Amino acid sequence: MKQAKCIVNKHFKIADIDKRVYGSFIEHMGRAVYTGIYEPEHTTADEQGFRGDVIEAINDLNVPIVRYPGGNFLSGYDWKDGIGPKDQRPTRLDYAWFSIENNQFGINEFADWATKAGTQGMIAVNLGTGTPQEAGYLAEYCNIAKGTYWSDKRVEHGYETPHNFKVWCLGNEMDGPWQTCSLSAEDYAKKARETAKILKWVDPEIEVVACGSSSKEMPTFPEWDRTVLETCYEYVDFISLHRYYEYEGNKENFLAAYHDLDDFINTIKATADYAKAKNRSNKVMMLSLDEWNVWYIKHMDTKRWQWAPAIAEDVYSLMDALVVGGLLTTIVNNADRVKMACLAQLVNALAPIHTAPNGAVLKHSTYYPFQQVSNYGRGSVYRNTVVCDDIKTEKYGEVPSLATLTTFDEQAGQLAYFILNTNLDDEVNLNLQLEEFGELELIEHQVMSGNDLFAVNTFETPENVVPQTLPVSTQPGMEFNFTLPPSSWHMIRFNVS
Ligand code: AHR
Repeated sequence: MKQAKCIVNKHFKIADIDKRVYGSFIEHMGRAVYTGIYEPEHTTADEQGFRGDVIEAINDLNVPIVRYPGGNFLSGYDWKDGIGPKDQRPTRLDYAWFSIENNQFGINEFADWATKAGTQGMIAVNLGTGTPQEAGYLAEYCNIAKGTYWSDKRVEHGYETPHNFKVWCLGNEMDGPWQTCSLSAEDYAKKARETAKILKWVDPEIEVVACGSSSKEMPTFPEWDRTVLETCYEYVDFISLHRYYEYEGNKENFLAAYHDLDDFINTIKATADYAKAKNRSNKVMMLSLDEWNVWYIKHMDTKRWQWAPAIAEDVYSLMDALVVGGLLTTIVNNADRVKMACLAQLVNALAPIHTAPNGAVLKHSTYYPFQQVSNYGRGSVYRNTVVCDDIKTEKYGEVPSLATLTTFDEQAGQLAYFILNTNLDDEVNLNLQLEEFGELELIEHQVMSGNDLFAVNTFETPENVVPQTLPVSTQPGMEFNFTLPPSSWHMIRFNVS
């Protein structure tokens, strides 16, 4: 058995956690919207066609913000197609996913759905085929009370009260050649800056997010981010990051994703700080990791010109859940700069929640680590000093074998500790020292582990990969010992007095 130690001291706080790091994403992609969150014929659907069983599953994830309507879909989407009487809305070709979009769900339906799902919208504006002016009209339609053309249109459409969306994304992955009307960094930066000006003139209370380069592997990375930030620094509040991982046959590499994400975040922080210096600015640019997840993109099969095709419906394994847990530790440990993050996505398309059309909801393995950290990783995050073995990975070199996270919600008097053991064959005896928090009573220990890292949940065996609750029996104190099985993810909770 390997030995490890983790010391956490209340005086070494990293930051208060912005709850928006537990955000997610609904795109018009595959069956995320149609037969996902919206299916009027479903037995649990309400009068607006929103599936009640899906809302229930989302409620348990405690998601405070949801990005909408895309994603790649966004860059060819005219938001005006999705407003007004449903029988007059056009059916269009969606250039991103080669699907048919019938526009039965648009911005107003999203606003209502978000309220019912207990979340807020993070609205993305089209900077591909769209113009800064059309983005401004959307902000006017959503956030101005009344008395102008677009705000009165909203009232006419039955929405007296403005939606008041507070976060706006300036396009999506505009460096990607797959994007409808992708742009050079210089062209995007100018378009984003001018759009940001209009959006903030319409509503000075909003925050806006500029597109970072769409992945670390892009040739544009990180030069794109530098250019965009230098041009837009004083006009935007966030730079976006997108990051996906998939298992490619090497478990060590895959389980070390948490470490790679940290490296990516650090590079963007450094790039943003360079732009801050170049702009002689006092403002600290925050990061919005508004797409992250495990995604088997290579298995993706687009089906041409179908409505709501089943695309990107990844079935997640135990190993995928471990990786998602590890990524969450990285996100929250960076809470001083990462103020928003979106698990991409929420329903059906690369998502923890799967629906059968006219049928049941299935929670994939990845649902559970997200649920645990989102519900209990609240309050503030603390620095963890970890002494453990490294794992040799082919892709990232030597990486600590343990990923850890400590959060403390002072008001609730609760401390949560999350840990991923990436050792494939070794148990770890962990000595955890929690200093200066007061006396801690261990109240819960949940673990996800098993012999079959490829085990999945199915409609027939929906609880094949779920957290197991272990008995807890230690005396209250400040020091605890745990045995961590090989390849395992843990949530350990304490009451603090
Ligand atoms: O989340 C799926 C897709 O991944 C999004 O549409 C796009 O922004 C990214 O490439």
